[in-house]
Amino acid sequence: MNTSRRRAAHGLVHEVLGMRLPVLGAPMGGVAGPELAAAVSSAGGLGILGHANLPPAQVQAEIRQARRWTGAPIGIGLLFPTNPRPESSTVGASAPPLPEFLRELGTPDPSVSVVDERTYDHELAAERLEIAIAEGVEVLACGLGVPEAVVERAHRGGMKVVSLVGSRKAALAAEARGVDVIVAQGHEAGGHTGRTSSLVLWPQIVDAVRLPVVAAGGIADGRGMAAALMLGAAGVLVGTRLLATPEARTAQSHKDRLVAMEEDDTVVSRTYTGKPSRVIRNRFTDAWKGHEESVLPMPAQWEMVAPLVVPAKAAGSMELANWPTGQGAVLVRRESPAAEVIREMAQEAAALLAMGQELSRQLSAAVPDNTSAAG
Ligand SMILES: Cc1cc2nc3c(=O)[nH]c(=O)nc-3n(C[C@H](O)[C@H](O)[C@H](O)COP(=O)(O)O)c2cc1C
Repeated sequence: MNTSRRRAAHGLVHEVLGMRLPVLGAPMGGVAGPELAAAVSSAGGLGILGHANLPPAQVQAEIRQARRWTGAPIGIGLLFPTNPRPESSTVGASAPPLPEFLRELGTPDPSVSVVDERTYDHELAAERLEIAIAEGVEVLACGLGVPEAVVERAHRGGMKVVSLVGSRKAALAAEARGVDVIVAQGHEAGGHTGRTSSLVLWPQIVDAVRLPVVAAGGIADGRGMAAALMLGAAGVLVGTRLLATPEARTAQSHKDRLVAMEEDDTVVSRTYTGKPSRVIRNRFTDAWKGHEESVLPMPAQWEMVAPLVVPAKAAGSMELANWPTGQGAVLVRRESPAAEVIREMAQEAAALLAMGQELSRQLSAAVPDNTSAAG
């Protein structure tokens, strides 16, 4: 069996990245600060700071804070989008006005500036990376692609590089660029996401690349983790489940909504960033129905909607702001400390995999072997 041979060759991902457990905390922008990253790392997983949208001075301060709270390895999540349309950026020019159909939702605040965070700007992301290298951060995690020069720089700086992908094609491209670990992130995932469901995506990518593959998208408990390992994954990366922890910087309104969510409460929408992202469906996403052609490319879409969305997010508005959330939210019914989430997930997965021996025995007894079939 190819998959088990491959896993035997590189082991579970903690052996590759230097943690105690094969569980990674997702690099969630605005949510995964030093509190969450340190808690996940101290629990034996790999806590990854969601730093794609922070000004460089804050990147340094938060890395140092995480270091004070944990002696275990940590990671940093940055974005170097492969196909942004920088020429569409409105930074330095006047942003396009909000389309008329959005004006009834609320009044944009013209003083909101996206200049400081410039989430999708490669130059600013490179500055953040230099800080992470200087601070000795062990792992770089990138969604939306990672250029070869960034992989090389991170490696020279002593970091391992993890690339989050949503398709087989993107996994092969990341492998060719020299990354160390692939995260195969299924359609269920919160945030930017691809079109293929986890159940199909994980084994497809395991078969396609030689690198360790970490599974993501919809994993909220030990059942998901056990299933991912059985499909050939070398570990799991968890986002949505960790939103409902005291250590995550999740807005209270988001947490309250998360633990009560129904299965069709999320939608994949380009209306916030210009690229498909799974978010909570609300008045903002609904308002774009029939106006899809007005969505601008990344980063211009974000720059256009920020004056409406940023103040709404600060106010905790569930109707006007972007709340990246995965379908796995329906499996999250209560808040619990990050360490407990990680421990219970790993324990439950181990227990389920042990039960697999009994299932295997029953299945083998039920399946006719070749000799009896021939008779
Ligand atoms: C609130 C939130 C913010 C996210 N922000 C980022 C980000 O800044 N960069 C990134 O690479 N991925 C981001 N993601 C995606 C996660 O890294 C991860 O792939 C995803 O959460 C895994 O699926 P799950 O939510 O089903 O666990 C975000 C996800 C959520 C839920």
